[in-house]
Amino acid sequence: MGEKLAAFLVIVLALSYVACAYCLQGTILSRTLLQLSPGAGQTVLTTLFPTDVVNVTCRTQDALVYDDPWWLQVTYAASNGSSIVGWVADYYVNCGNVGNCNVSQC
Ligand SMILES: *[C@@H]1O[C@H](CO)[C@@H](O)[C@H](O)[C@H]1NC(C)=O
Ligand SMILES: *[C@@H]1O[C@H](CO)[C@@H](O)[C@H](O)[C@H]1NC(C)=O
Repeated sequence: MGEKLAAFLVIVLALSYVACAYCLQGTILSRTLLQLSPGAGQTVLTTLFPTDVVNVTCRTQDALVYDDPWWLQVTYAASNGSSIVGWVADYYVNCGNVGNCNVSQC
């Protein structure tokens, strides 16, 4: 393997590590909105559907959604290949554990 290729691979690995170093993946449970900000009635970026996967970055508390006060900042890969950063109610996201997505506070 050439030195350039090796250096390239190191950079790629470093970048993918940084991209999700402290994040968690979540699966959308039912149709909901990806918003510009946490809380009710915020600007809508796109609609998320069941089985869509998002990278959860951090969380903050805002309007309750069925007793769940947490809103998650997530990165979502849109069908056109771009990645969108937005907010979704924790209630609609399954992070693989019981209860809330356990990420650090934003
Ligand atoms: C989510 O994180 C994984 C692992 O770092 C990465 O491969 C993927 O591209 C990320 N997806 C989005 C939408 O940012
Ligand atoms: C949440 O994550 C923290 C840090 O990783 C851990 O100490 C804590 O036990 C977790 N809480 C739950 C409810 O899983």
